[in-house]
Amino acid sequence: MPDQTASRRDGVVQVHGYSLFWRSVGAPSAKPTVLVLHGGPGMPHDYLRPFEDLAGHGYRVVFYDQLGCGRSDRARDVTEYSIDRDVEDLEELRKALDLGRVHLMGSSYGGLLAIAYTLAYPRGVRTLTSVSGLADVPLAVREMRRLVNELPEPLRRAIEVHEGRQEFQHPEYLAAVLEFYRRHVCRLSPWPTEVQYTLDQVSLPKYGYMNGPNEFTIVGTIKDWDATTRLAEIEVPTLVTVGRYDEVTPAVAASIHRGIRGSQLQLFDESSHLAFWEERTRYFEVASAFLDAHR
Ligand code: ALA
Repeated sequence: MPDQTASRRDGVVQVHGYSLFWRSVGAPSAKPTVLVLHGGPGMPHDYLRPFEDLAGHGYRVVFYDQLGCGRSDRARDVTEYSIDRDVEDLEELRKALDLGRVHLMGSSYGGLLAIAYTLAYPRGVRTLTSVSGLADVPLAVREMRRLVNELPEPLRRAIEVHEGRQEFQHPEYLAAVLEFYRRHVCRLSPWPTEVQYTLDQVSLPKYGYMNGPNEFTIVGTIKDWDATTRLAEIEVPTLVTVGRYDEVTPAVAASIHRGIRGSQLQLFDESSHLAFWEERTRYFEVASAFLDAHR
């Protein structure tokens, strides 16, 4: 894919009293803008870099760091961090940057946020893509625990022992977490620089408050969020993507696909949570074909 650096523009926008960092790649065109939402909650957007490939398909692609993440402001108080707040910020940002009706693509928590936003502001959305996203956090947690139980016995045991003692920083525990990530977050070795950067730069106040100590221990404020029964309200064309080895498992993707009438489900056989890195070429063939079908 050609490097899109030349067409890149960065800026900040004031939203609800805080400044949020945004990046735009590719020239505005007759095609709707693609707006990409990062996960975490609390991961900076940098790991989404492959979505710049869509600029090569004629789309302007916009990223931003949600409140509390990356190059955006931190909230004065962690209790300001919530799904509702992220939804309202997204609506303000979309209007302030004059993005129009967007192709909304959300990775992981960004997928949850994209679903929550579409339920609240359907008129802002041309199409919705859940990129290893989730609509039912309790289901995702049960599935992640199943994957933890499938780890080799010593790792499974280290997780059990240290979680029992709340020792989330114990080296044995962290080694087990890393192995889980290598199997279920990104199967490339080594990890792309941007993926490593995002994991290193996670905003701990937001991640700890809303998610929890790590990916498979979701004990924060989002833990009970479940929009399954509302998915039938979504009427925009929807693509649901997932990796075979994804920590947000194919069962979670299937629950979204079942809920959103007419949605398209795409499984990536060689991927876990970051299919857009792990099967990058194929991922953007599928994604651009979906977007092009809904101009
Ligand atoms: N922690 C999950 C994510 O990556 C939900 O966004």
